[in-house]
Amino acid sequence: MSADTPHLLFVDDEAALRTLMAERLRERGFEVVEAENGEAAIDLLEQFAFDVVITDLRMPGVDGRRVIDAAVSRYPGIIGIVITGYGTVKDAVDAIKRGASDFIAKPFQFDELMHVLQKALEQRRLASENAYLRSQLEERYQFGGILGRSRPMRDLFQLLDTVARSSSTILMTGETGTGKEVVARAVHHNSPRRAHRFVALNCSAIPETLLEAELFGHVRGAFTGAVGTRQGRFEQAHKGTLFLDEVGTMSPALQVKLLRALQEREFERIGDSQTIKVDVRVIAATNSDLARLVADGAFREDLFYRLNVIPIHLPPLRERRDDIPLLVTHFLEKFAPGAAMHLSQSAMRALMAYPWPGNVRQLENAVERAVALSGGRQEVAVADLPPEVQAAPQGAAAPFVEFPDLGLDMPTYLAAIERDLIQRALDRTQGNRNRAADLLRIKRTTLVEKLKRIGANR
Ligand SMILES: Nc1ncnc2c1ncn2[C@@H]1O[C@H](COP(=O)(O)OP(=O)(O)OP(=O)(O)O)[C@@H](O)[C@H]1O
Ligand SMILES: [Mg+2]
Repeated sequence: MSADTPHLLFVDDEAALRTLMAERLRERGFEVVEAENGEAAIDLLEQFAFDVVITDLRMPGVDGRRVIDAAVSRYPGIIGIVITGYGTVKDAVDAIKRGASDFIAKPFQFDELMHVLQKALEQRRLASENAYLRSQLEERYQFGGILGRSRPMRDLFQLLDTVARSSSTILMTGETGTGKEVVARAVHHNSPRRAHRFVALNCSAIPETLLEAELFGHVRGAFTGAVGTRQGRFEQAHKGTLFLDEVGTMSPALQVKLLRALQEREFERIGDSQTIKVDVRVIAATNSDLARLVADGAFREDLFYRLNVIPIHLPPLRERRDDIPLLVTHFLEKFAPGAAMHLSQSAMRALMAYPWPGNVRQLENAVERAVALSGGRQEVAVADLPPEVQAAPQGAAAPFVEFPDLGLDMPTYLAAIERDLIQRALDRTQGNRNRAADLLRIKRTTLVEKLKRIGANR
């Protein structure tokens, strides 16, 4: 017998009916246990997690309702089917309220019972599949604190999962504020190197002359101002990860040195001849187009290929607007923990319409500002948003639609919007179809046609 053979408990005090049905259910491959009354049924339920309980409602002593109560309270996913005498709908409704899945009225044929049973089993299978899919999706909505539900972000999480396990060099590209640094940190913290250091160096923030010393360290007296011996970032990141931000700005001379360090995993401190070997994973990031810099001769081609072993591109926020609601919820909770704040429909619309040149960082700042301006109100209004966001042209002012994971029925959805707009236009014009059609920029005949289709009589 396979592990997913449904186990069924059949409860009825009417022995002839019970044994007949049980027999036929067994023929159909069910594992069936019979109980001749409610007490026996409850005992059995305590001993075994049945998939299905089918019970007569009217029984002397413990009746079917109590059997359902016992079954559902113990096994919330159980399928309960009640058999009602003489089709008393009220009893059936009551049983369903208590958690039964369906009912069947006496007298019934075996096939009717099979039909009800199979329908319930199918529904349960779908429900558990959906729950499984949902949990899968929710897990995919983040990777080490990077949030995203849009297609590109979900693909990225999958890639990061694999990439984190290797030590290959990563070149991360993306506009400012798209999360390059958060991704670099997440990769490190999900890698076998997590027990060692994540060392970050912004190559554009340090004067060229000092950058080499920052990277490789120096010995005392190596240059004016080198008062002591210092470890460079490469050494500090030994066994860990070195994050080189803004690599595009490095001078040609330093590019050569970086290339060697990447190729040989060895270098010398400035002013020293001793070679130091390190085991470092390098993640480089840039918001300039490195391939372009290579073409223009500003960036070494060999270094580019050395860095670009695993290219990761973070798309700008405006190309993954699906992530905006998720990020907003996250930032509201960050800046007003426990306050359960939310955005008004028009505020959300404004956020969805704005192009976000500063990407997630700019969105985060906008939410922080809105929380400060909301002065304890739970709902963030358009007026709480930065002026540039408020001023963004909202195109056709498409309403913001939360897009469910399982999709939605677009024709039905659009029809509902259309119905709503027509209704509101007619309300606005006290039912005057001519003026309503004007408000909707459609012909009166079109409006009349649509009203006919909707079946509205006004
Ligand atoms: N997917 C995300 N989920 C949650 N927070 C994010 C996400 N992306 C970015 N952030 C937040 O946005 C801010 C900017 O991210 P980060 O510093 O990684 O950007 P960047 O790409 O390195 O930008 P720049 O090129 O300007 O350095 C950070 O505060 C980060 O926490
Ligand atoms: Mg950065």
